[in-house]
Amino acid sequence: MLNNLIDLEEVSTDKLGAIIELACKIKANPEDYKECCRGKILATLFYEPSTRTQMSFQTAMMRLGGNTIGFDNPMNSSVAKGENLKDTIKIISGYADIIAMRHPAEGAAKAASLFSDVPIINAGDGGHLHPTQTLTDVVTLYNEIGRLDHLKIGLCGDLKNGRTVHSLIKTMSHFEGNEFILVSTRDLKVPGYIKSILKASGCRYTEHDNLSDAMPTLDVLYMTRIQRERFSSEEEYLKQSGVYVLDTKKLSLGKQSLKILHPLPRVDEISSDVDNDPRAVYFKQAVYGMYARMALIYLMLNAPAEKKQVKLPADNRVNRCDNPNCITNRESYLPRAFKNSGDMLTCMYCDNRMLI
Ligand code: CP
Repeated sequence: MLNNLIDLEEVSTDKLGAIIELACKIKANPEDYKECCRGKILATLFYEPSTRTQMSFQTAMMRLGGNTIGFDNPMNSSVAKGENLKDTIKIISGYADIIAMRHPAEGAAKAASLFSDVPIINAGDGGHLHPTQTLTDVVTLYNEIGRLDHLKIGLCGDLKNGRTVHSLIKTMSHFEGNEFILVSTRDLKVPGYIKSILKASGCRYTEHDNLSDAMPTLDVLYMTRIQRERFSSEEEYLKQSGVYVLDTKKLSLGKQSLKILHPLPRVDEISSDVDNDPRAVYFKQAVYGMYARMALIYLMLNAPAEKKQVKLPADNRVNRCDNPNCITNRESYLPRAFKNSGDMLTCMYCDNRMLI
């Protein structure tokens, strides 16, 4: 099925459909799957905090009959003694059958996949990608709306640093007729590479700074938290926080069929009285995430793809990625790798684009 899950771009629409279908089957008949990973071990390596992703991976594996190992604070592991990512992954891939990893550096999961003997799942890499959140989101949309195409999708909040936003736009831009309404401040717009993907996909997108104006036409509203941990200072964060708050007054502008999603955690961007509105599906979304991860683990362990060596194309015209948060700038032994497109080079780890 899949060697690794680093970026959902590597998953064909057919394979994505198979994961969604299996997640729905497991949700309907969980008893049928309770032994299917018996004897298998999932390692959850969380170098960054998490509630939903880590615990839904752990419960997913337990509900499939498997076991889990791992850490939720790298300072309680030998990372605190200076062990690098390569050595940690080499060791854990000798203990576990599959690894789910979250890391603050962009491209870290890709880097881990170079050294692992078992499948790596990207559970979030810095502000870059969060593909299993996107699986969660598409399973939610499929169950709550019944389709993934011809949707008017509003995304609001921190569109620059929100990795869930980047992964979701990339995936939903593959489905016909989807339109994206991007609501953010000028400083927190989606990165250029995401706009390039949208342009190439042919999907319509517009950028706005006012949520109320966007509300009436939306089929889906994907609210996001301002990512405090990605700002250079508290002062910079405070300039952006509290700008967008979905409350019942704004919600009254939305369609009755609107679905409100949020990857969670929420801070103040959705007021708690919205929780009681049937259009708010973000708590259900977190449960769909467990079924999505059960389907993913099941397929990666029971229908493995032929193991392939991950190869990175090299381009010697630059010797380092200029994204300071790229994993290659933290772990110096990593081979640099860039994809060449015209006068731009794209880092194969973090997708940062540089002019040659
Ligand atoms: N949605 C999400 O990634 O939540 P956690 O940070 O709690 O895992």
